[in-house]
Amino acid sequence: MGHRHRIVAAIYDQMTEADERAFLGQLRSEIVGLAAGTVIEVGAGTGRNLPHYQAGLVREVKAVEPDPYMRRRAAPRAAAASFPVEFVEGTAEDLPFPSGYADSVVATLVLCSVDQPQQAVREFRRVLRPGGQLLFIEHIRSDDVWRARLQDLVAPVWQRVAANCHPNRPTLTVFRAAGFEVQEKRRVAVGLFPWIPPIVAGLATVMDGMTLTTASAH
Ligand SMILES: C[S@@+](CC[C@H](N)C(=O)[O-])C[C@H]1O[C@@H](n2cnc3c(N)ncnc32)[C@H](O)[C@@H]1O
Repeated sequence: MGHRHRIVAAIYDQMTEADERAFLGQLRSEIVGLAAGTVIEVGAGTGRNLPHYQAGLVREVKAVEPDPYMRRRAAPRAAAASFPVEFVEGTAEDLPFPSGYADSVVATLVLCSVDQPQQAVREFRRVLRPGGQLLFIEHIRSDDVWRARLQDLVAPVWQRVAANCHPNRPTLTVFRAAGFEVQEKRRVAVGLFPWIPPIVAGLATVMDGMTLTTASAH
């Protein structure tokens, strides 16, 4: 799947504005506001998270984003930040940073879109220093049988129209399989489209001595 989506980048902020006002902005403040030190934000998109970092906690943000159209849209938000923000071309599956580089990794609404979620989460673990935190907001596969069926049904079409977004990924399971201990802080049961919820927000840390296992994801 390519990483150049001019139209999606152009309409992304408008398309998500209602959710942003209803709950997403608040979730961003609660979760992204916990980021500290050297931060790698993965799939930073149009830079929606940038106003939600706490300037007093953050040393710098390295914002990884493969789509040049998204990077262009994010530029004004990066320029307005009161801490250094560098947009870096790269992918979640192959983060261009040494092991243990980051105090915090931030991933919001991104694991639905990456090509290889397990590999991406292994990379999150690799680039985090021991004791570092993964901060996430992700929409995931529903526990409700009927909604999960709807998600499976819609997935093939939705992937095509929404820049590879998979509505049915068991992302918390993927975190745990990679050795993360997950603390879910919030779960939202509504969203712009009925196949998107639930949206979960929280933090995850690596448990000492945990080894990687394999988890299946769509
Ligand atoms: C739904 S948008 C979310 C943007 C932003 N994180 C937010 O919360 O608004 C998904 C983003 O992930 C990016 N993306 C897709 N595949 C990726 C990959 N393999 N590695 C890193 N980012 C990726 C897309 O270009 C897009 O900017």
